[in-house]
Amino acid sequence: MALEDHVRRRVRKEIAGRSAYDVIPAAGRIKLDAMESPYVWPSALQTEWLSTLRQVELNRYPDPTAFELCEDLRRWSGLEGAMGILVGNGSDELIQMIIMALGGPARPVLAPEPTFGMYRINAEVLGSPFVGVPLSDRFAIDRAALLLAIETHDPGCIFLAYPNNPTGNLFERETIEAAIDAANGLVIIDEAYHPYCGQTFLNEIPGKGHLAVLRTFSKLGLAGLRLGFLTGPEPWLAQINKVRLPYNISVLAQASARFALSHVDWFTQQAEKVCAERRRLHNGLQELSGLKVYPSAANFLLFRVSEGTASWVFDSLLQQNILIKNLDGQHDRLRDCLRVTVSTPDENDLFLEALSAAISP
Ligand SMILES: Cc1ncc(COP(=O)(O)O)c(C=O)c1O
Repeated sequence: MALEDHVRRRVRKEIAGRSAYDVIPAAGRIKLDAMESPYVWPSALQTEWLSTLRQVELNRYPDPTAFELCEDLRRWSGLEGAMGILVGNGSDELIQMIIMALGGPARPVLAPEPTFGMYRINAEVLGSPFVGVPLSDRFAIDRAALLLAIETHDPGCIFLAYPNNPTGNLFERETIEAAIDAANGLVIIDEAYHPYCGQTFLNEIPGKGHLAVLRTFSKLGLAGLRLGFLTGPEPWLAQINKVRLPYNISVLAQASARFALSHVDWFTQQAEKVCAERRRLHNGLQELSGLKVYPSAANFLLFRVSEGTASWVFDSLLQQNILIKNLDGQHDRLRDCLRVTVSTPDENDLFLEALSAAISP
């Protein structure tokens, strides 16, 4: 038997039928596919950061609890002392930890769909059934369908991306609150795009027994750092903490994140620039004929092109060295849809020009 077949028989069945997470190479291209910030620290700030890193002891393991970083995060987000906080290697790792701790064959993971793919991927890989509740054609949650799904499946955890990726909209607050009230499991509001919308459920955590908020440094401008944090009632977080690998946040990441938090104004200014560009890019897309652009509270825009042309438009942009995300084929509701990250004024202009050429050659 060929080794490949032998291995396929030995590997867990949830893994054997899957493909690895695939990312299109971006080298030499204008990269507008992953909701990164286009801005880097000015050189004075970089020099200061590097001198902070010089004091880091790379020969030692990091503080396993990242205590000082967590204290800074508490201060930054105005968290009450009684709330738990956990840090992860990106919010991706926290999503995995949540599902490891709260999922399982009898505890489904639930989320509206289309949404961020890692909820489903982690559930499937970890052997939890995944329940996707379809969004409406305007990407709103169908409240009755969500509540019925919660009652029927009694999920171990529910993920609500707020704003949602890849649709960019904020779900109705009352619907989310109804879901929190109806659920027995943990409801995680994933606020990855919080820097671009300012809306949060953080202040509601103390009054709710099973609400947690997930945030990341990635969309703020530090995607390379790989740092996310989860905050919520301590009894839930104490259980999730049991599946955390001992030293999951490196000394470099802990020191860099603390440095970033002491210069948070710089990030706020960049986020404001991105929000202004989001408006301009939205208007620019709206002016192109045969294209529908959706409202966004995040640092990306979802748009729909003429029927059957999404892959063609995507390839044409790629040929012009611009990488965005083709969502056509990922979900019924995303037919003919593409997603672009809001970038600098220059890159946004280049994108608009290239797109205009692609759709009206
Ligand atoms: C809604 C949402 N949550 C989480 C993430 C993952 O973020 P991180 O880089 O912190 O793993 C993303 C990334 O695109 C996202 O869109």
